[in-house]
Amino acid sequence: MPNQPSPLLERLVNVPVIPVLEYHSVDDALHVSEALVAGGLPLLEITLRTPVALEAIQAVAKALPQAVVGAGTVLTVEQLHAVRDAGAQFAVSPGLTQKLADGAQGAGITLLPGVATASEAMAALESGFTFLKFFPAEAAGGVPMLKSLYGPLAQLKFCPTGGIDIVKAQHYLALPNVVCVGGSWVVPKDAVAAKDWGRIRKLAEEAARLCKG
Ligand code: 3PG
Repeated sequence: MPNQPSPLLERLVNVPVIPVLEYHSVDDALHVSEALVAGGLPLLEITLRTPVALEAIQAVAKALPQAVVGAGTVLTVEQLHAVRDAGAQFAVSPGLTQKLADGAQGAGITLLPGVATASEAMAALESGFTFLKFFPAEAAGGVPMLKSLYGPLAQLKFCPTGGIDIVKAQHYLALPNVVCVGGSWVVPKDAVAAKDWGRIRKLAEEAARLCKG
């Protein structure tokens, strides 16, 4: 398969951060997503880690047309189909299998697959993916690892995710092969519990102001 630029990349021009979200209620999902989008982060990764995840994807996609709703923790082809049908415009997986690579083609949804090593990145490239999630970013070598991959694999672009905060994000975004970072720090659990949507909006605004290198 020829390597095509990811349509997701085009949506990320001025977006430095994709919030990684674990929603426990549709009501929280709507409020948090609204705060994130209002704060300047329109790309959202709603992970399939809770029973309400699919319903949340559907509700947010419907209520916030200005958001680009994606699904995270997608592990199977069946989930790819389910999240597409729920209204997700992209899917994120922690790793990549051949089944998932083939399934993404058939499902007609953009997949951002996770890799953590040079061999995994090469396998993803062979399957046609040039925009990859680097996961788990901090545990898998962080900024030095991505700097090292840039030498032999400069054609790849990354969204590092895993263990990143606002300070670390700046260091990743300064790299030429990093387009954006993913992270859950913009939605602290205690802010959701307190229904403090204003705090989440402020964290989103702070993240949206991060500059790309
Ligand atoms: C994940 O999929 O869990 C993401 O990597 C989020 O990681 P974080 O909670 O460390 O930002």
